[in-house]
Amino acid sequence: MTASGLCAPAAIPAQPPTAPTAAEAAELVRQLAAEGHLSAESAEQRVREMAAELAATGTYRQSSQELLLGTRIAWRNNPQCIGKFYWKGLEVRDCREVAADGGDESGLFEALVEHLRLAWNGGKVRLLLSVFPQSLPDRPGPRVWNPQLIRYAGYRQHDGSVLGDPDSVALTEAVQRLGWRGQGTEYDVLPLVIQWPGREPRFFDLPSDAVPEVRISHPDHPWFEQLGLRWHAFPTISDQILELGGLRYPLAPFSAWYTCTEIGARNLSDTNRYNKLPEVARGMGLDTGRDRTLWRDRALLELTAAVLHSYDQAGVSIIDHHFATKQFVRHEEREQKNGRSCPADWSAIVPATSGSTTPVWQRRYEPTRERPNFFPQQAPWPPSGTED
Ligand code: ARG
Repeated sequence: MTASGLCAPAAIPAQPPTAPTAAEAAELVRQLAAEGHLSAESAEQRVREMAAELAATGTYRQSSQELLLGTRIAWRNNPQCIGKFYWKGLEVRDCREVAADGGDESGLFEALVEHLRLAWNGGKVRLLLSVFPQSLPDRPGPRVWNPQLIRYAGYRQHDGSVLGDPDSVALTEAVQRLGWRGQGTEYDVLPLVIQWPGREPRFFDLPSDAVPEVRISHPDHPWFEQLGLRWHAFPTISDQILELGGLRYPLAPFSAWYTCTEIGARNLSDTNRYNKLPEVARGMGLDTGRDRTLWRDRALLELTAAVLHSYDQAGVSIIDHHFATKQFVRHEEREQKNGRSCPADWSAIVPATSGSTTPVWQRRYEPTRERPNFFPQQAPWPPSGTED
């Protein structure tokens, strides 16, 4: 639920799999008590229990309630996300037992496919996060290589240009080194690459019914459809580690609906992504030879309008940036009433177009990163040229 991705500043280092401490575990439980989910007495009882389990095993297991409520707070704490108004509506699916013995990549794959089907929900996209095995002191948890469960490949061409999503070139090449071959279209869905640290990665093609997509057409321009633009129905961030009460969950894919600007004003239009504005502008009959015709601005607006229209027509949940920012301000106000601050990164919250027309433009935010939270992780594939 962000304007620019649940991606955090690059400055945050990858988190090594260290053991949780009793203090971190206690902090989570006391926070849940402070927010009224359990009495101070039961919290202290639980703190003692966790400390004992930690002393005996070096780690501990969270209750389903700790997992659910803690994950919601992690979302609420995330400074990158414009959709936090809905934080209490996040559903958490417990997949901690899937492949918990440290293998069975195909079992993980099945559970990830099921996640996509559940999140899709026939177009009424759910706020859904699935939690897979936690990192243990002697063994980090499983990962997928993909930054999102559904993403398009990017093929570097001989002339240096890219067919598909330029953002995916490194991953596409890494997957090709594993032996994957795509169709070679502009919108080839990448396979999921699943890996337990220390084991070989395995890749799996997603079944098409788990990859709903929307073809982009325009409410007033019939020619628009001929551009052949499309996008996947909803995002599922899969490269962030969930840190909760000192535990680390490196695979915790998070699905939500899109804000229209993410697709229209970024994915399809950024010059280092699909770069479609020149084509759209030409279709609109604009002079693309001079900046001053504002052809980019006009094309950007119509492309974003087309995205919104197409998702609506297809019956797929999507939110516009005006509504999203209004809700964000309501969320801020609600947080204030509850005596909490609202950590936010202004540059991630302000939408990619029409920023100054939205209520967040004039506000100031602190991008503090409290725990629990989601953190970026280093890409797990080896850089090209390092394998034999
Ligand atoms: N910006 C990313 C994308 O375009 C998705 C980030 C998460 N967005 C969201 N609405 N949950 O794919």
